[in-house]
Amino acid sequence: MERPSGNGFSVGLGLTNECNLACAHCYRDTGRIDRLSLEDVRRVCENVPVRSVNLGTGENGLHPEFHAILQYLRDRGTTIALTSNGYSAAVLSDDELRAFADLEFSLDFATEREQDSWRGPGNWQLVLDQTARVLRLGVSVTIIAVMMRTNYDKLAEIGALASQHGANFRVNVYQPVKTDAFSLDYEQFWTGFQRLLKSCPLAVCNEPIVRAILGFDPVLGGCGKGTIRVTPKGEVLPCVYWPKRNVGLAELEKWGAAIVDSPAFRELDRIPQFCGNCRFVESCRGGCPSRRLLRGGLDLPDEFCPFVAGKPIPSFASRAGSSRQFPKAGSACTTVFGAQEQGDRKA
Ligand SMILES: C[S@@+](CC[C@H](N)C(=O)[O-])C[C@H]1O[C@@H](n2cnc3c(N)ncnc32)[C@H](O)[C@@H]1O
Repeated sequence: MERPSGNGFSVGLGLTNECNLACAHCYRDTGRIDRLSLEDVRRVCENVPVRSVNLGTGENGLHPEFHAILQYLRDRGTTIALTSNGYSAAVLSDDELRAFADLEFSLDFATEREQDSWRGPGNWQLVLDQTARVLRLGVSVTIIAVMMRTNYDKLAEIGALASQHGANFRVNVYQPVKTDAFSLDYEQFWTGFQRLLKSCPLAVCNEPIVRAILGFDPVLGGCGKGTIRVTPKGEVLPCVYWPKRNVGLAELEKWGAAIVDSPAFRELDRIPQFCGNCRFVESCRGGCPSRRLLRGGLDLPDEFCPFVAGKPIPSFASRAGSSRQFPKAGSACTTVFGAQEQGDRKA
């Protein structure tokens, strides 16, 4: 069975689902407030080998034990990253920020007007201020965007902005966890990637179908193999968008690192019959399992597959990227673009 690379799992912890914003596209549960306690975080870290922790889901800075949990992770020597709308970085001291390997800030648009009308007044400036602050402290910053039907043709501009500011750029495809309202159609998905790959220097592409068509090797690790997610309710998931919630912290204690061999995690390995003889199947493994499940069933092929859509294989004008290590590169269906080197950057 495939195991995480010697140093352990990349663990995503949602300390809380509370947020100071209410973005229309967000997957977080808004029914009630749940929180992982410091004790829960300890249970996770003591039961599986942890290579790195990424704090996401809500705004972790709203968690009453945020600073104590951060200190616990620092004391363990864990590699830590945080995904934030800017708020959680702003509540941290410079010393605390220096403990992170990477700070991720979300931008869904490349202009202040569009970003603030999507997320809330002042968010654009907060992200830019915290980006500058974190970079001044010598910590790397990644701007993260979700590719949706509302912005799929504007992402290259966010990539350019990230690069101008000295940040990396990461793109995830919108997952219809709560609504289809922001889902991409087939043409939007491929137009979005073609535009991105034309303009931004690609570092890592783990979006399974795009990766396969670019001719890259199969992803090693990834959802439910090298990564484990723990929600604020204490649900243990192979992927943050996985809709089935049947594993909890007690099962994680029971299985330990072998959680990735549990039937609940192995379910992601199912490959649709449609894909059986495809020449790309070893690389794309049938596409994104969470998307397939959310959009109708694990046994259905991924809707963005050109063979499913009866379309020609898309072509790309790809720009080679950097070979540096990116904290979230091994996780899930994500695509990372590298910042230009110092000398290439606009002032
Ligand atoms: C859930 S938020 C949590 C951290 C923080 N509140 C923020 O906005 O970055 C983490 C990232 O997931 C993205 N996201 C939210 N809902 C999503 C969805 N349904 N599909 C894909 N990405 C989503 C957000 O836009 C954000 O970039």
